[in-house]
Amino acid sequence: MADTWNSADKFNREASQWDENPQRRAVALGVAQAIIAAVKPKKTMHALEFGCGTGLVSMEIAPLVKTLSAIDTSPEMLAVLQKKTNISGITNIETSCTNLSASPETTLKEKRFELIYSSMTLHHIDDTALFLNRLSDLLSPGGIVALADLDLEDGLFHDDPLEKVHHGFDRAELAALLQAVGLQVTTFETIYTFNKTNRAGIRAAYPVFLVTAIKKAKS
Ligand SMILES: C[S@@+](CC[C@H](N)C(=O)[O-])C[C@H]1O[C@@H](n2cnc3c(N)ncnc32)[C@H](O)[C@@H]1O
Repeated sequence: MADTWNSADKFNREASQWDENPQRRAVALGVAQAIIAAVKPKKTMHALEFGCGTGLVSMEIAPLVKTLSAIDTSPEMLAVLQKKTNISGITNIETSCTNLSASPETTLKEKRFELIYSSMTLHHIDDTALFLNRLSDLLSPGGIVALADLDLEDGLFHDDPLEKVHHGFDRAELAALLQAVGLQVTTFETIYTFNKTNRAGIRAAYPVFLVTAIKKAKS
């Protein structure tokens, strides 16, 4: 069955201009700084970003870890990231066009990560509980997940009313979902606030959280 939540066409169209939006660059930098402060990435870590887009976050994290798998469902977003890695000489980012929410049978199946993170992508994934379970399976024991996304919003954040998205997340509900798949929440903080005119034409604030959680080692 087609994943109707998969918005690859939209992101393919937006890829070449993605980095030109100053709010996108600002939130990505805020997310990267918050992940660095909360997780303290190490040169021994294998990291994964899902929904990496053009790599605004991962270009900041890559120099701090051993390897970085950057996955996305939009080939055009990945092409922009690939171009940036070629120019910058960063060699530890491996890009892959992969939809983790569609099937666990991916090239990542045999891999395990000490760090998995994302920025503004979780709300694009239909079944949050199932998806978090997949992330938990991909984490090594003691591994950390760091997810940045919108707090519950008024449903007007996205310009296209037909776009299938979660309208942000309730923090207590997300913490319970993480807990249910064996991930112990360690931090939950507001790290950025979008101030934007929403599609109703109203100026509104949309806070972004970062939640970090650790995979409990089996006893
Ligand atoms: C709002 S953008 C954020 C991009 C990037 N993280 C940033 O901060 O600039 C969401 C990204 O998630 C990707 N995406 C959506 N659903 C996905 C899925 N199921 N698996 C992997 N990537 C997905 C989209 O193609 C898009 O690049």
